[in-house]
This record gives sequence, structure tokens and C-alpha cells, in this order.
Amino acid sequence: MDFKVADLNLADYGRTEIELAELEMPGLIAMRERFGAEQPLAGARIAGSLHMTTQTAVLIETLVALGADVRWASCNIFSTQDHAAAAVVAGPTGSADAPAGVPVFAWKGETLEEYWWCTQQILDWGTDAEGNPVFANMILDDGGDATLLVHLGVEAEKKNEAPAVDSAKSTEQRIIFEVLNESLAASQTRFTDIAREIKGVTEETTTGVHRLYEMMREGSLLFPAINVNDSVTKSKFDNKYGCRHSLVDGINRATDVLIGGKVAVVCGYGDVGKGCAESLRGQGARVVVTEIDPICALQAAMDGYQVSTLDDVVGTADIIITATGNKDVVTVDQMRAMKQNAILGNIGHFDNEIDMAGLETYPGAVRKNVKPQVDLWTFPEGEGKAIIVLSEGRLMNLGNATGHPSFVMSNSFTNQVLAQIELFTKLEEYPTGVYVLPKHLDEEVARLHLASLGVRLTTLTDEQAGYLGIPVEGPYKSDEYRY
Ligand code: NAI
Repeated sequence: MDFKVADLNLADYGRTEIELAELEMPGLIAMRERFGAEQPLAGARIAGSLHMTTQTAVLIETLVALGADVRWASCNIFSTQDHAAAAVVAGPTGSADAPAGVPVFAWKGETLEEYWWCTQQILDWGTDAEGNPVFANMILDDGGDATLLVHLGVEAEKKNEAPAVDSAKSTEQRIIFEVLNESLAASQTRFTDIAREIKGVTEETTTGVHRLYEMMREGSLLFPAINVNDSVTKSKFDNKYGCRHSLVDGINRATDVLIGGKVAVVCGYGDVGKGCAESLRGQGARVVVTEIDPICALQAAMDGYQVSTLDDVVGTADIIITATGNKDVVTVDQMRAMKQNAILGNIGHFDNEIDMAGLETYPGAVRKNVKPQVDLWTFPEGEGKAIIVLSEGRLMNLGNATGHPSFVMSNSFTNQVLAQIELFTKLEEYPTGVYVLPKHLDEEVARLHLASLGVRLTTLTDEQAGYLGIPVEGPYKSDEYRY
């Protein structure tokens, strides 16, 4: 088995954590019990690009229990938990000496070059016994990087021309262009072959989903996609309650600063921003929200937060967190206007929410690494003060802490498993486009998580069901209902 992780000897530690996580992931365990015998994913070769954490390990092993072959990379250079990666490679029945699990290509602290190498390893499965190339036939994506690479590769191969490396606007782009140029130089049609094999993709997060809808609108989407993010039991739980938990965890582990009494700014009051604002308020911070959308701004105001612009509050804030999925939300000039030792972090998917490129090239700005994923940036005398930047502007709840806890990820990942089964087994029902899972499956995911919290659900009487015009067993809401 080919794989690349930090240290396979961490497998025992990882296995213990996986076993503990399984107890908190009733949805995934129910998937194993329900579909284990049927093996609906037999024949699926899933390329997974999603934070390689303990919770993801339970997802991977659930996909395998349902018959899939899987290869995995992380979707962020800092989010891998090395012990979880090692345990997945060793497998539940194998060991560090005799790995018998799933090929994982992920470690905490990858360079961007390594990151894109890992992404290629999950798409390209080498050759079979007869020497024929084998590729993934399903993608499970978080943020859309694996999907993006296939699409850019196909485009380059179609034109027989990749973008010039020196035309890249960022390091990230330069590396992708290098990959495409190398692939073309080797006269491969690798990405075209991969795209032909791919039946579909299931996408985990808001930012990846944006990319998919954009490609659909442009007419460039190459295969069907299920938008897992917009299952209610994903975005209204993981994005909100997950971040409510892991945001302060990240701040605490990075800085251990007392949050109570401080001024904290949350940029963006979508699902993630709502969870972040609540968690900071829960710690006693005075929270200010920034928004561009009048509906979300009004929601924040009605929830009791001050709503302002970043420029208005940047000089008084102790903690500033971006949660927008947008770019350039915090500029270098705003960083220069921050208080001494203000903490700046991003919990949105990509690192361009904070202008890190601008900070890194600002004349005279000096970076001092305090510890992994915590940097003190000092501006030259008279041009700003010093600020603490978390995870180099990448999602700090996974870089500085361990991301969301198992129970909430069980909801997200049960949606992922159902979406993979749906696309792989009913492909003819999904012509190229972007879909969400049907409401009854969304409700089912929630139902699977009630018992372990001691929730007792009220059952509709036939008369009540008739009065509301809905079946006793659901679905209970229209697709337009907003929860
Ligand atoms: P959302 O679309 O619900 O919320 C984003 C909000 O930001 C919107 O209300 C939008 O109006 C606002 N916004 C956009 N530009 C802004 C600006 N310049 N200033 C202030 N507000 C602005 O998206 P959601 O689901 O909250 O996700 C946000 C980001 O977090 C995405 O990149 C998503 O992929 C990521 N995410 C991260 C997670 C994590 O564990 N770190 C978990 C789930 C999502």
C-alpha cells in the first residue's frame, strides 16, 4: 500500500481516539449497521479531500464498511491529526508494522507543493494487475480543491495549453499551474481520463458549494454534485454549533488569553458567524458583528450584537475573526490599525479572507513564530503595532485546535455517506448539476442523533397530520422552510 503520513507509530493512539469518537457518532455507526450487509458502495473508488481528523477516520472506515475503496488527503495544510492519519493507514485490523487500512496522504504542516501532490495521489490510483491505469470514480470534497484540479486539468488538456506559471497571482495558483504544465509536458491526458471515470462529487462546505454552482452556471461542470453543506443537518449544525465549540478552543489553545470582557469582532453573520458570535459571547466577550447582507445584519442586531464596520471598530478590538467565505475582508491597513497584540484569525475555508499575502510582503513587517500556527507580526515603528495571527490565516479551529467534535461531525458525515450512496447507486437520476439530498434523508440524519441525547420526539396523530397536510412519518417541512 502506498501512503504518506507523519509517523505510523502514532497508530495505536489514533485507534483509541477513533474508538472513543465512534461512541459519539451514532449516525455513522447506524449507516454501518443498516448498509453493511448490502455493500452499496462496492465498486466505488472514493477520492476523499477533507480534513484528516479523528472524526474523518470514522467516516473513512464507514465508507469502507459499505464496500468502498478509498484514498484520502486533507483539504488544508494544517488540519491533519497525525495520529488519526496513522491509525487509518494501519487500519482497524492492521498495525504500524503491517498496515492494512486505507492509503492516506496527509500530515500536519504540509507545504503547498506537498498539499497538491497529496491531492493528485487520491485521484490517480496507479495501475491494476494488468498494468492498466486506475483512477478514482467518486470524489468526496471539502472546499472543492480535488474537483477544481480535475476541472483545470481537463481544460488545460483540451486546449493543450496550461496557464504560464509566471502568470500566477498567488503561490497557490503557481503550484496548480506547475502541476498542469508538468502533466501536459508528460503528454498525459490524465485529468481527462480521471474526469471520464468520475461519477460525481459530494461537497462538504459552503465555499466548495459556491464553486460548484458557479461551474454549473458557466456550463463547465463535468459531473453531478450533491451539495451536502445545505442539508439542514449539516450547515445549521456543523457550521453553527461546531464553530461555537471549536472557535474558542482554537483561541484558547493558541493564546490562552481571557476572552471575558474583551471586544471581539466577528466578520460575517452566516451559519459559521452565528456560532462564533455565540461562543465568544458565552465567554463574556463584547461581540461586534460586521455584515454586508441587511438580513444577516438585522439578525445580528436582533440577537443583541452591535453591528458595525470593521474600520469603525478595528482600533478597539482585542480579537478579530473572519467567517465570510469572502476575500480581502481584513486588509493590511486594517491590521496596522489594530491594538497591540490583537488576535487575528480566520475560520472561513480559505486563507484569502485575511490579506496574508499583503502582510507577508509589507515592507519591514517582521514575523516571529511563537509556536506552531501562532505568529507575532510586528510592523515597523510608526506604521502599526504587533498583532497575533493564527494559523497563517487558514482556518484556525482546525489549525490551532482539533476542529469540530465528533457528535456534530456525525451529522455532517452521515449526510456525506448518504450522498455518496445516492450518487453512486442512482446516477441515472442525477444528470450533471448540483443537488441537495431529499428532505426525508435530512430528517433521518437528525432522527439518528436523538436517542443519544435523550430526546423524546412527539408523534403526530393521524388527525393532526391530516390537519397539517403532511405524512405522520414526514417530511414535516417544505423545501422552502428555513429552520
Ligand atoms: P454563509 O454564506 O452562511 O455566511 C457568510 C456570511 O458572510 C454571509 O452572511 C455574508 O453576507 C457575509 N459576508 C460576506 N462578505 C462579507 C464581508 N466582506 N464582510 C462581512 N460579512 C461578509 O457561509 P457559512 O456557512 O457561514 O460559511 C462561512 C465560511 O466558513 C465558508 O468559507 C465555509 O466554507 C467555512 N466553514 C468553515 C468551517 C470550519 O470548521 N472552519 C465549518 C463550516 C464552514
